[in-house]
Amino acid sequence: MMTARCNINERFSAYEGISVNIQALLSAKVSQAMVLAGAPADCEPQVRQSAKIQFGDYQANGIMAVAKKLGQAPRQLAETVLQHLDLTGIASKVEIAGPGFINIFLDRNWLAEQAKQAIKLPRLGVAQAEPQTIVVDYSAPNVAKEMHVGHVRSTIIGDAAVRTLEFLGHNVIRANHVGDWGTQFGMLIAFLEKQQNEDHAEMALADLEAFYREAKRTYDEDPVFAERARGYVVKLQGGDDYCRQMWKKLVDITMSQNQKIYDRLNVTLTRKDVMGESLYNDMLPGIVSDLKAKGLAVESEGATVVFLDEFQNKEGEPMGVIIQKKDGGYLYTTTDIACAKYRYETLRADRVLYYIDSRQHQHLQQAWTIVRKAGYVPESVPLEHHAFGMMLGKDGRPFKTRSGGTIKLSDLLDEAYQRAYTLVREKNPEMSEEEVKSLAEVVGISAVKYADLSKSRTTDYIFDWDNMLAFEGNTAPYMQYAYTRVLSVFRKAGIDADSLDAEITLTDDREALLATRLLQFEEVITQVARDGTPHVMCAYLYDLAGLFSGFYEHCPILSADDVTRLSRLQLAALTAKTLQQGLDTLGIKTVERM
Ligand code: ARG
Repeated sequence: MMTARCNINERFSAYEGISVNIQALLSAKVSQAMVLAGAPADCEPQVRQSAKIQFGDYQANGIMAVAKKLGQAPRQLAETVLQHLDLTGIASKVEIAGPGFINIFLDRNWLAEQAKQAIKLPRLGVAQAEPQTIVVDYSAPNVAKEMHVGHVRSTIIGDAAVRTLEFLGHNVIRANHVGDWGTQFGMLIAFLEKQQNEDHAEMALADLEAFYREAKRTYDEDPVFAERARGYVVKLQGGDDYCRQMWKKLVDITMSQNQKIYDRLNVTLTRKDVMGESLYNDMLPGIVSDLKAKGLAVESEGATVVFLDEFQNKEGEPMGVIIQKKDGGYLYTTTDIACAKYRYETLRADRVLYYIDSRQHQHLQQAWTIVRKAGYVPESVPLEHHAFGMMLGKDGRPFKTRSGGTIKLSDLLDEAYQRAYTLVREKNPEMSEEEVKSLAEVVGISAVKYADLSKSRTTDYIFDWDNMLAFEGNTAPYMQYAYTRVLSVFRKAGIDADSLDAEITLTDDREALLATRLLQFEEVITQVARDGTPHVMCAYLYDLAGLFSGFYEHCPILSADDVTRLSRLQLAALTAKTLQQGLDTLGIKTVERM
């Protein structure tokens, strides 16, 4: 969580007027009071949203730790802090609880004022972050293979992180680290050539999976073909024109097929974000010789190896990481060393996020340990593995087709559409065919995405059609429906939400709860940006939708007196905007009706 350090006044003023961040404001205020009560300037007030209503809206939990350091009784320190804590106009009540917690109850008039501001401010009152250049490595499918379920999570979660960081004002560089290099390209080029000679290259490449399979079969069965393929690997690596051209054709066709999937998924990747493994080829020889010169890499049984004390092999000895094979070939690790260096040196990254399967954790740690030891990327630039678990079927085993094959992403999305179509048609018998179709596409794709986004990414996750398409619970259809429900209030009132400029008064508890939660959007989004955890945003939006329902059921809008009606409509307008904006940072589309 964001906590205030030094520069209290500077930080405090940054949050007044321009942005709405209750936690940051209270943190600044409490730490100021703590310092006046004798705490060191870098004390952590630990201001958090309270877990229970009886503990107020926010709690400051940092007193105990500081009291311990100062050798004071925590409650006594809390008393002194309270004497210095000036929350006039912000809190209606501040009290000490338990061993020295401070419970803060926000003032409703102040909340109302903040809510009013949030609507008017750009980005719903979310402050522009100090812009960083952030490289996000995600999606990364392999050339001459179709995207399959193994790439879903990286693509979807990575894109949500990208959208979130961009919303906050960062300069985001999308890096699609596609697998476009390796010895298999000799085989693929030779096979493409064979197909071209037989005049069915285009057709064959339309089904990449079959193309790859056939290429492999031919390679295994036909020695003349295999010989030719091996020759092409060498030529390709040597920069031969013909081989380069054929290689490029394979990359182009694969990526234009993938682009269709990205567009359909509402994922922001384009062709210009492709920074495949091949991009780093030219750097590899230099890296190997540099690592040798630095004494980090040594010759071992003909290969070039870096021994790392940080990792141990089965015998308990330092683990050897091969960076160049006996035959001169480089490895996936060598490429990732070069790639990290490039992202820092050339792209000038301040931070690099990698959305990669958790099974590649050790690989990344080894590459980065070498990167740090060689001084290619300073410690001040974080290299973060935002790992995720596997996608499992309902039976808890890796998600496969009935016959045990990998599931193609395009087939998965077609099925999502089909299932959503049935559902939408059932719910809207009167709707035109065209509208049902377009709604089904949005709902189906969103359901697949949201199901993934709403779960903590670190664990494996069970892919279940029925759960993700349910209209109850934390699902895309529920969230999209909740949004249309808010909009319907404006239709009924005959008022345009955007033109509304009414005062907000919070009289009912439910109004105050809704307003407080609405004002926590920045707290949530900064957390998602820091940890790369979109499920935190999903949980927030789901909670928000629930609070809106409670408010809507208990606080009449259309039948209320003028002042109350407009105030409640204003809250509804902020809810609609927040839901829409929140879903947008996740890459989930909203619809007007469903
Ligand atoms: N293409 C790889 C795969 O399909 C993922 C690449 C991830 N990014 C990286 N910098 N290693 O497993």
